[in-house]
Amino acid sequence: MITMNIDGKLAAKILRDKLAIEVVELKSRYNIKPSLTVVIVGDDPASHVYVKNKVKQTQEIGMISNEIKLSEDTTQEYLLNQLEQLNNDDSVHGILVQLPLPKHIDESAVISAISPDKDVDGFHAMNSGRLFNGESGALVPCTPQGCVILVKQHLGNDLSGKHAVIIGRSNIVGKPVAMLLLQENCTVTIAHSRTKNLPEVCQQADILVAAVGIADFVKADWVKEGATVIDVGINRILTDEGKIKLVGDVDYHAVFDKCGAITPVPGGVGPMTIACLLKNTLAAAKRCAHQP
Ligand code: GUN
Repeated sequence: MITMNIDGKLAAKILRDKLAIEVVELKSRYNIKPSLTVVIVGDDPASHVYVKNKVKQTQEIGMISNEIKLSEDTTQEYLLNQLEQLNNDDSVHGILVQLPLPKHIDESAVISAISPDKDVDGFHAMNSGRLFNGESGALVPCTPQGCVILVKQHLGNDLSGKHAVIIGRSNIVGKPVAMLLLQENCTVTIAHSRTKNLPEVCQQADILVAAVGIADFVKADWVKEGATVIDVGINRILTDEGKIKLVGDVDYHAVFDKCGAITPVPGGVGPMTIACLLKNTLAAAKRCAHQP
């Protein structure tokens, strides 16, 4: 059997090109240029790299990008006040607060303070509730959306009856990706750090999504022959040469020979996350024009 490498970089480029056309249309028909404001608090180097990429790609597809950089000692009150101003500013369609936040700030209070209509991360309880209920109109978290697009790229649009095993139960990835795959009529298992017999559970998976944050965690003998493997992990490890290298949650080279298709790290899920953020920003801006 030939294993497919699922090219997230290419899929993200195709999605961005499609969105860029819609951005031009929205401007010419309704004089609306979608705008995204990203708020970053503190000095976490990885977060600054992610935000820089988001800003660059937002501009590249013709959207307006604003960045608000706040110092590590910013108070929660100040941040909530900034968000209220952004909520009330009609020129802002999407708001994203980069996570993690400094320890003295309550993440859930911040997420709740973003207007659900501008919550392009899809983390507000209103949006996660809509997703959970299978209601239309939710802004859906970006990484899970990207995962499902990549799964469908390999398996086609009909995922009915496939057994999806997700390792990880975070609000950002594990839980929402489970909801999306359930909507696609998969049988869904959410596994996590307390799951017993994890290798045996993973062996059941037609679709295996790894979102644990541990380098090379998923081994070849956990994977069913021909399975579709989606690796959400972004782990920084030190190589023998003393260099920093990005690796996923899946032992890529060993699993490659066993599975049917796999997303690489980097170049798999990562690029899709930003592309889906732009998709959500466009959706939020379209709502202002009362467009579906
Ligand atoms: N930090 C890591 N992933 C994400 C994400 O998807 N959104 C935000 N806001 N912060 C993150």
